[in-house]
Amino acid sequence: MESESEMNNKENSQINLINENNRMFGFLKKAFFPKTIIFSSLNNYLKTIENKKCFLICSKSFLDNNPDCTTNLEVVDKYILSGEPSINTLKECVDKINQITEELFIIGIGGGSVVDLAKAVKKECNKQLIVIPTTPATGSEVTPFSVFVDQEEEKKEEERERENKKTIINSQKLLPDVVILDPSYQKTIPKELHGYMVGDILAHSIEAFLSKFSNPLSDVLALQSIKLIDHTLSIDDYNKNIDKFWEKIQIAGLLAGQAQGMAATGLVHSFAHQFGAKYKIPHSKAVTIFLKDVIKLNLDNYDVNEKMSNLGYLKPEDLISVIEKHQRLFNLQNDKMRIKVNNDFNMEECINKIKRDVCSATNPFRANDEQIKEIIEKHIEN
Ligand SMILES: [Fe+2]
Repeated sequence: MESESEMNNKENSQINLINENNRMFGFLKKAFFPKTIIFSSLNNYLKTIENKKCFLICSKSFLDNNPDCTTNLEVVDKYILSGEPSINTLKECVDKINQITEELFIIGIGGGSVVDLAKAVKKECNKQLIVIPTTPATGSEVTPFSVFVDQEEEKKEEERERENKKTIINSQKLLPDVVILDPSYQKTIPKELHGYMVGDILAHSIEAFLSKFSNPLSDVLALQSIKLIDHTLSIDDYNKNIDKFWEKIQIAGLLAGQAQGMAATGLVHSFAHQFGAKYKIPHSKAVTIFLKDVIKLNLDNYDVNEKMSNLGYLKPEDLISVIEKHQRLFNLQNDKMRIKVNNDFNMEECINKIKRDVCSATNPFRANDEQIKEIIEKHIEN
């Protein structure tokens, strides 16, 4: 039987064979799914499980706001994550679990960082994992990736800001056993932040759809996610029926996460990666800021008409309409779409980093320096 690293090596060599004429190679078999996805209240689900012993991974702010989240469980020990997880964080968490002799499962409740950590701990410790994502945007609960800040950089804050290095673990063993989508955790999040989260989901689905790595399966998932968001925004569920809104957006986020897991993202995320970490802007906000202009640039330079008409619903211009509808509903205009940069901001360096970002490799066309500069200038101020 092949080891996982042997399988990964084989997959990587297949990825290298993907080009304009050969984009399907090896990708359909990368459609991994969590074992179970449940739309339920967490407590309802917890009542149904027999072994209540667990190891909890969550953030301090989540636990402070939701002290009753594990009422129906026996928490043997827990790990409270602050900030983004690093490889050191992962080791600490794994060591803690390995000292416990009792049979238990891992439960991870929180945003993308908590879910990423819980997935990697599950892989290392070979335990069952239940995750409850409290932000719908990341899609981390359904992707075979976990992102960690680089270990070296933890010691050198300045260098970390300059280099913005990340370590990405990629394995199907990361996928949770159970994902619970409980919309009640969305209610404490402010409207503006909700808007950015929906922007990030839209970015995942639109970028996956336009990606060089897209395939018929990821296309269907991506388009369904876009349609669901479009419909939800059109009937204004956010103001009329917020529970319905979050139910649909969580499904859209999950579909987008699946599409992204197969087809990756693109240039919007490359922009967001450069500005997010350096200016301490949440990922979803940084993505939302650049979403419309970068997608417009892609549509001006990459003909997606035939692909969209083959799928029979939505036209290329509809992608921009959905983004505009989203920005109007969440009032995401003007100064909210601008980033205050430092006096030492170096345009050339920024452009080069955006071009070198891993997500630029899957963008449907290669943007030139002028095109990138024009978008940056639109969104920065001193
Ligand atoms: Fe994202």
